[in-house]
Amino acid sequence: MIVVTGATGNVGSHLMKELAGEDVRALSRSTGADLTDPGSLRPALEGAEALFLMVPGDGRGIDPAAVLDVAEAAGVKRVVLLSSQGVRTRPEAQSHAHLGRFEAAVRNSGLEWTVLRPAGFASNAYAWAPSVREQRLVAAPFADVALPVVDPADLAACAAVTLRGGHHTHVYELTGPVPISPREQASDLATALGEQVTFVELTREEAATHLGAFMPPEVVEGTLDILGSPTAAERTVSPDVATLLGRDPYPFVAWAARNVAAFRTP
Ligand SMILES: NC(=O)c1ccc[n+]([C@@H]2O[C@H](COP(=O)([O-])OP(=O)(O)OC[C@H]3O[C@@H](n4cnc5c(N)ncnc54)[C@H](OP(=O)(O)O)[C@@H]3O)[C@@H](O)[C@H]2O)c1
Repeated sequence: MIVVTGATGNVGSHLMKELAGEDVRALSRSTGADLTDPGSLRPALEGAEALFLMVPGDGRGIDPAAVLDVAEAAGVKRVVLLSSQGVRTRPEAQSHAHLGRFEAAVRNSGLEWTVLRPAGFASNAYAWAPSVREQRLVAAPFADVALPVVDPADLAACAAVTLRGGHHTHVYELTGPVPISPREQASDLATALGEQVTFVELTREEAATHLGAFMPPEVVEGTLDILGSPTAAERTVSPDVATLLGRDPYPFVAWAARNVAAFRTP
């Protein structure tokens, strides 16, 4: 059996579809499994072969070693951790420090382990859905800075492959097929909608105010550093999705077409 944490999230919901028909169990707090209370995970992990571990929010209140101890005691053999590219590209950044601690715990566990380090998610564009629905408008900073955003559907497919085994001690960097800027993403949304979408460039300060409504300050600053001043590594397309899946990763326009309903005026 494979146990999926964050099963209602961007990656986890796709992963549940990837694993449909296999022996799989979905976890989130609504199933009574809270990562901040490792004991609450025990019943769901009993007898499982593999665990997909994602870290909600900034990981506050979660002890990764305790979670992995419970998994190991329950008989889990293998863990696949959803981390972030930022752990490699920004080792000093506060915004990714918690994921670095999860990676260390996974490596130090007695389990077979695989780490997935994604670039920014295509689904971050959901943040633009209200203004696209209401005003056909995308407002974002760093209009022309292109990054190889990755489709959560590709992340889920890579997670499914690695959860089935054979990837012990591998760290995969998962990106989309090509760097794309926010202005180009807005244009892809317009294509998917078949309507014009206006792009307005925000200043870093305006973006920080906006993101601060739902992210802690250090995560806001870390995110804006990557979006505005990406390193060469963060601009680089990784071959790892294609290596794992035997096909190219989906471009942003495919994500936009699949998720266009969220951007349509009801
Ligand atoms: N977005 C990006 O650009 C990006 C880039 C690189 C890495 N990442 C990493 O990707 C991860 C986020 O993945 P995602 O977008 O798929 O997640 P998400 O959509 O934010 O979903 C979070 C999931 O975690 C569950 N959850 C929340 N608190 C929980 C708790 N205390 N115990 C158990 N489950 C809990 C939620 O379900 P309930 O609320 O029902 O419990 C939900 O299923 C983060 O670790 C982030 O750092 C994101």
